[in-house]
Amino acid sequence: MRSAKDFFRPLAAGAPQPLREITVRPSRMIHFFPAANEKMRSKVPDMAAQVDVLLANLEDGVPASDKEAARDGLVEVGKAWSATDTQLWTRVNSLDSPWALDDLTAAVTEIGDKLDVIMIPKVEGPEDIHYVDRLLAQLEARAGLEKPLMVHAILETAQGVARVEEICGASPRMQGLSLGPADLAANRRMKTTRVGGGHPGYLVREDPDADDAEAPRATFQQDLWHYTISRMVDACVMHGILPYYGPFGDIADTTACEDQFRNAYLLGCVGAWSLHPAQIPIAKKVFSPDPADVAHAQRVIEAMGDGTGAVMLDGKMEDDASVKQCRVIVDLAQELSA
Ligand code: GLV
Ligand code: MG
Repeated sequence: MRSAKDFFRPLAAGAPQPLREITVRPSRMIHFFPAANEKMRSKVPDMAAQVDVLLANLEDGVPASDKEAARDGLVEVGKAWSATDTQLWTRVNSLDSPWALDDLTAAVTEIGDKLDVIMIPKVEGPEDIHYVDRLLAQLEARAGLEKPLMVHAILETAQGVARVEEICGASPRMQGLSLGPADLAANRRMKTTRVGGGHPGYLVREDPDADDAEAPRATFQQDLWHYTISRMVDACVMHGILPYYGPFGDIADTTACEDQFRNAYLLGCVGAWSLHPAQIPIAKKVFSPDPADVAHAQRVIEAMGDGTGAVMLDGKMEDDASVKQCRVIVDLAQELSA
């Protein structure tokens, strides 16, 4: 049997963990669409041309009365699917729901040859992934599929966060993880009522002015998701799979959406969910390296010759470690332009 180790190459000390070959395809935005909605299904070819990943959502957001229609809609979309550069994913219902088994069975047996990745919500530990892995293997064998389906887990319970490393390493099928801030907030008993993003109450305040105790003091809103994203990124990197920020529910606030996406990008995420067409260009822009950063990174790489030692560039010291960071940016730009 294949082991997760088969996907890894030996590493030079401190070099970024290489991604598994199978995961290296652009996925800057995972665009959600409601598969039960006929009008939305008719827009699929247009949408597919604009995004890296199109995802038929069967889980939260789909009313219980529409679960079967959403599953049928996914199958209809999959059968008609002809996009080559865009990936087709689905988010099935959670494993403790009455719908998950039929979702997985329909997805694999009806359109398994068209689907790239199956997103599993509310994953709490490696046993959830082992179950899905076994079930997919049986369904794939029955359907005569040649390519294994990949699995993406949503990190949206405290238990899932606590066991994130085990989840990432649970199967060679693991493609990546997304932060699910809305469910995670509820599960952790955070006191928010939003789908992702920040909160005006989560802030730090500057010290009082020693000479004027009455002077107004600036406040700085903090990123509620910093810890979880960092934890998720480390676990994903350790296992050579991809980390994503999840949803940003305030569709009208495109500025805050861009900020949240950029925080995630800077911390190591490769993409985010888009819930509305307005969020597609935001994700595309944020998760593609800035051309000025790429040009600077190329200058550093050239100046560093064989990549060892130290040079001064624009008054700043560059060395073996900064050249590795620069390679991450240049490699990403190349992957996205390939
Ligand atoms: C996504 O599923 C979330 O709960 O944020
Ligand atoms: Mg959720």
